[in-house]
Formats: sequence, structure tokens, C-alpha cells
Amino acid sequence: MSRILSAVAWPYANGPRHIGHVAGFGVPSDVFSRYMRMRGHDVLMVSGTDEHGTPILVAADAQKTTPRELADKNNRLIVEDLVALGLSYDLFTRTTTGNHYNVVRAMFEVVRDNGYMLVQTTHGAISPSTGRTLPDRYIEGTCPLCGAEGARGDQCDTCGNQLDPTDLINPVSKINGETPKFVETDHYFLDLPALADALSKWLDERAESGTWRPNVIKFSQNFLEDIRPRAMTRDIDWGIPVPGWEDQPTKRLYVWFDAVVGYLSASIEWARRTGDPEAWRKWWNDPEALSYYFMGKDNIVFHSQIWPAELLGYNGAGSEGGEPGDFGTLNLPTEVVSSEFLTMEGKKFASSRGIVIYVRDMLERYQPDALRYFISAAGPENSDADFTWAEFVRRTNSELVAGWGNLVNRTASMIAKRFGEIPAPTELEDIDRALLDAIERGFDEVGDLIRSHHQKAAISAVMRLVGEANKYVADTTPFKLKAEDEIPRLRTVLWTLAQAVNDLNHMISPFLPHSANAVDRVMGGSGQVAPMPHIEEVVDLDVKAEDGSDRTYPIITGDYSKFPSWERHEIAVGTPVAKPKPVFVKLDESIIDEELERYSGLV
Ligand code: MF3
Ligand code: ZN
Repeated sequence: MSRILSAVAWPYANGPRHIGHVAGFGVPSDVFSRYMRMRGHDVLMVSGTDEHGTPILVAADAQKTTPRELADKNNRLIVEDLVALGLSYDLFTRTTTGNHYNVVRAMFEVVRDNGYMLVQTTHGAISPSTGRTLPDRYIEGTCPLCGAEGARGDQCDTCGNQLDPTDLINPVSKINGETPKFVETDHYFLDLPALADALSKWLDERAESGTWRPNVIKFSQNFLEDIRPRAMTRDIDWGIPVPGWEDQPTKRLYVWFDAVVGYLSASIEWARRTGDPEAWRKWWNDPEALSYYFMGKDNIVFHSQIWPAELLGYNGAGSEGGEPGDFGTLNLPTEVVSSEFLTMEGKKFASSRGIVIYVRDMLERYQPDALRYFISAAGPENSDADFTWAEFVRRTNSELVAGWGNLVNRTASMIAKRFGEIPAPTELEDIDRALLDAIERGFDEVGDLIRSHHQKAAISAVMRLVGEANKYVADTTPFKLKAEDEIPRLRTVLWTLAQAVNDLNHMISPFLPHSANAVDRVMGGSGQVAPMPHIEEVVDLDVKAEDGSDRTYPIITGDYSKFPSWERHEIAVGTPVAKPKPVFVKLDESIIDEELERYSGLV
């Protein structure tokens, strides 16, 4: 048994999330965590909404509301969407909690006192026409590193490099097109050069482990070549106040010393809420514990360089030395698991142009497991992938409905009709044993693929076994076994099928948890193959609202102590099985045009 931290990227609360987001961080982290729990590992899966920074301010301005109100609204929407998708967080919280503020500030102070924060004077942008500070993201120009147009003042999405607004060639304000004026301003910079040796030693070790995707390691190692201090504070008035600079309310910590620290603060909040406030240490201080970070590719450098550097600085492991603070020596990531991008009908998601499918809209019209299946089978695991409605309908109908759904449905129907309960087998023939053996071997194959983050191959291996089971029905023709002397054979065939369905249902449950429970009920079980998350309304542990009342917010949590083990579970002969209703909804071809019309921004 290992302790495993599943650290899932924190979605911005600047709006509801689209299916590209959950394809990047959501479904892959949940499949992995569910599988690891079935293997008996002690998984702690944490995340939350990222509620500070320019994206939130900009959205609040546009909607004529305050950043806190906007964050409250979107936090709730995102929590509802993620729980509806069945993502099994131990804690999904937010960055505006008192606990998060305290943990971030404590971490900052230690990194600073250990000597890894430099104060440097830089040039901050202001708008010449209004005199106001111009947020980094609101400055656009040509990337000095790759030459791409439209790079932002904080990051170039084309090459993934972090930037400062003054790096941009021909910077202009996105608000009104004017050229910003740069004035002198002080900021804290994380002294990455002082941490470079420790970072590169860690990356080399990780590379040797051979488990990271090669592109992620390469990308991260390349960044070490041109390493320089990075600003960890920003000119902005929404965010966590900078320790020691409380008298400068327009300076706040930057998202990369805020949201990433959330992995630690959420683990601590989880422990405090379970009543064992030190329990988080088992995932963070024990060097044997493993940690897996899930995200889209635009987040790689922050998880393979900035966050590890912050941890090393906290641990006092760079060239300046130092001592860890009260959190103790903290573990660095075991693996940074990044996916590529999902496009929609060949185009990049862009909410402003209507090229977007919100998780909420999708779940209002379709089953959550239909979306989870598409993401698992056709998502952007190792290369960019395209979501099309035609392909969504095809996969749902021909694979989920006609493949897996049909196997479940015909197995339960025949058992209900002929025996009303799971029959006892008589003598097994080779063909029966061959099917069950192949499926039993599937547990090893599929498990290894999930563990090594090859989820596409894993689900296709399960579906191949589903195909074999469907072929077994065609070969053994149980529907033709009607005569009195064929009943013993019928019992054996239907028992074999019931066992096969039960095995396959366990194997598919990390991918399709909702339907795994439904299939279990169809087969006479209690529907608890895949424990599900729920929403709880909680009170902030450390701060009150401005008017002195409790500050409450919704979290995602769940009881995941009863996952079934990842292996064959013998079915119970005699379990009543009733005439089933189909688990999966077949989609009408007409929805393709309907949806394309709805998202007419596309056509
Ligand atoms: N909200 C940011 C983004 O979506 C950061 C996510 S990862 C975190 O890019 F660890 F920083 F939270
Ligand atoms: Zn670039």
C-alpha cells in the first residue's frame, strides 16, 4: 500500500468550465485515483477553484460585479459540474479560504527567510489615459522567444514561456489598444538560479525513473537552460496580501505562489476537517509517498519548475541553504502528468466566439458517462484531439450502447426471462473458461495501462474484452437453448456471462462510475461499485465574512473507504435479476445538426 497524492490543477473561477478543461485535468485524474483506490492505495485527491488574479478581475469588471461575488458564483457552478461528472475529490475547495491564505503566507515567509526571494525593481505597466495599473494579462504583443503574435504580458500560450510585460515586442493594451507606459515598481522574485542545481538534480532523477512522458521532461529540462528570477508578486488589488507588504494593498502574491500552494493547503484543510489535523503529513513529509499532478499542457512549467522550486526553497535545499518551517520537509512531485488540448470541430475553444461546450450544457442533455467515455477513448492524452458531435454520437451509439450496454442488457434480459436469478453453472467448457480467463488477465493489463497514464489504451483494452464477451454470446447462442436437455448448458452460459459482466463492470468503473453502479443494480447488486462524491456546505475554518457572519462555501468530498478491490469478485448464484432497462441512452443522429446549429459560432 502506498500513499498517493492526486493533485489536480485548479480551474479558474472566471466562468463555468468547458469540456476541454475536464478533458485536461478532470477525467484523467479521476480515473487514476479511482483505480489506485481499488488497488488498495491510500489516495488523497485535492483541488479547488483558483479565484485570484487578473482573469477573475477582468470577468468581474465585464459583469459589473465584485471579484468575490463573481468567484462565489462560479465556484458553486464549477463544484456542481465536477460533482455531476463524478470526480471523486477528497476535498475540492477554493483559494479564498482563510486556511489557504494562512498556508500560502507561511510558505512565502519561509522561502523568503531562507533567502530565495529577491526584491527587484521592475517596470510595471500603467494606462497613460487612465493612470491605472494595467494587468499583465491585459497587455498583448509579440513573443520575444518564439515570435508568436498575441502573447500576453504574463505568458505566451504558443511556446508556453512565462513572460513579463516588458519582454513583449510592441506591447499594447487589450482594453483600448494604447501603448502602455512603464513605471518603476518593486516586486519579490523567486531566485530560481539559486535553486537551479537542486531542480536539475530532481529532474534528472525523475527522468531516470522513466515514467514521465518524455516531452514533459524535455520541456522542463530545456527551461533550466535560461533560468532567471521570476516575479512572485504583481501589481493588482485582488489576491493574497504579500507578507511584510501589508501596507501596499495594490501588491498581491502572484497565482504561481498562490494556486499551486493549494495542493498543500487543501491537504491541510482536508485533514483539519476530518478531525485529525496532522493527517496531511503522511502525503507530504513521508518520502515514500507518491504524488501525481494532473493538468493541461499550458501548466507544465509551473508544476515542473516553479512549484518544485518553491518546495525546494521552503525545504532549504538550494544554494542559500535554510531550514524548512512548520510544514516540515515537503515532497516534490513524483510525476507531472500533462495532457494536450481538446479542440471542437477543428477549432480552438474560445468562449468569446461561441466556440465552447460547457460541461453544464453537456450534462443537461447527455449522460455524464457518455462524456467521460468520449474523453477517455478519444481525448487529448498524448496529442491534441478534436471533439465533434458526429464522433460523439458515433462513439456513444456504436461503442457504449451497442457494445457494452448491449452486453449488459442481453445478459440481464436472458437471465431474468429464463431463471429470474443468477443460475448455478454445471460443467464449464473450454469456451467458457477461455472468456473468463481472458477477462481475468485483463485486470493486469488494464491496471498497468492506467497506472502508467495510458488511459486510452486501457479503455480500448476493456472494450476489446467487451467485444469478446459479445462474440461469446454469438458463439454459444444461449437464446437458442430452449429444449429441456439444453437447460444445464444454458445455466452455465448465462452464469459465465454474468461473471464476465461483473468483471468487466469493475474494470470499467474508474472510467464510467455512474453506469458501473447502474449496471451493478441491473445485475441484482446494490449499486456500490463506484463510490461517488457529494457536495457539502461548510463554514470557513479561519475567517468570517465582513459583516461578522460565518463564511460558508460548498466543497466536494466523499467517503471512498469502500472501493471494491481490483480483481475478480465471484458473483452470487441465486441473486434475483429483473427485466432490465437500458443503462445507456442511444442518441438520435439528428442531434448532430441540432448541436451544430446551437453552436452556430462554428458554422
Ligand atoms: N488556474 C490556473 C490555470 O488554470 C492554474 C491551475 S494549476 C494550479 O491555468 F496549480 F496553479 F492551480
Ligand atoms: Zn512564445
